[in-house]
Amino acid sequence: MATVFITGSTDGLGRAAAQSLLDDGHHVVLHARSAERAAGLGELASRVAGIVIGDLRSAAQTRSVADQVNAIGRMDAVIHNAGVYTEGTRGSTPEGHAGVLAVNTLAPYILTALIERPRRLVYLSSGLHRGGEGSLRDLDWTKRSWDPAKAYAESKLQVVALAFAVARRWPDVLSNAVDPGWVRTRMGGPGAPVDLETGQRTQTWLAVSEEPAAKVSGRYWHHMRQEEPASEATDAEFQDQLIARLGELTGVGLPGA
Ligand SMILES: NC(=O)c1ccc[n+]([C@@H]2O[C@H](COP(=O)([O-])OP(=O)(O)OC[C@H]3O[C@@H](n4cnc5c(N)ncnc54)[C@H](OP(=O)(O)O)[C@@H]3O)[C@@H](O)[C@H]2O)c1
Repeated sequence: MATVFITGSTDGLGRAAAQSLLDDGHHVVLHARSAERAAGLGELASRVAGIVIGDLRSAAQTRSVADQVNAIGRMDAVIHNAGVYTEGTRGSTPEGHAGVLAVNTLAPYILTALIERPRRLVYLSSGLHRGGEGSLRDLDWTKRSWDPAKAYAESKLQVVALAFAVARRWPDVLSNAVDPGWVRTRMGGPGAPVDLETGQRTQTWLAVSEEPAAKVSGRYWHHMRQEEPASEATDAEFQDQLIARLGELTGVGLPGA
């Protein structure tokens, strides 16, 4: 049985993934943005191997999340699930970054670099990543006027490129990206066509399954099938430039193989 850490597991797809893994007998470490949100986990809290706390808008709290996970022990898999959708304004995090960039891109990058290397990594992207090309010129939205849909799309393209960069850099780790579809969560809304069970299935399968089909790396998945992502995500030069820029913005380097 595997031990899996899931970011953003107080609600939606993260919580559903935790429930599914626990029902299958795996060990799960949950993540909540605050002690108040953790208190709302109810009976789920009594079934898990640990709960770590930290607001991913803050780089300092994100580093603390990595420390808390490492204190629990080495994870077999990490599902980078936490995310925010379109935000009305750029906002400014404690470190001065755009909120969407901080939660959707910088946090998975920091956690990838600082959590003791697991055997598998899964990053939640979106089909909307296809509208996100060209972000490197202004990753943190300091030069452009704010465009909520474009900012979300860019962050979801960046996370695919991050997954693929890690796949290239760490050949001993399986690193994949998932588009869960349009799912009925707080983010997806009540009219979304995909139920929670279907929406969480691909990421939990990639995290723990021993089936040969699940033991691949550097792929983009949608509902248990591989798909072709936007071309920038598969471009090694884009991946390398992104990793360099994320290193500059966070002050955290991504270790080599
Ligand atoms: N639902 C969809 O249709 C859809 C489609 C494509 C991709 N996705 C992706 O799937 C992932 C999960 O989405 P979802 O639909 O389950 O969203 P959700 O229902 O809004 O849940 C998001 C989770 O992330 C957590 N989170 C957000 N900001 C955080 C922060 N600053 N610090 C700590 N935790 C934070 C939330 O915590 P709180 O409860 O405290 O806010 C919650 O647990 C996201 O990455 C999203 O982009 C979703």
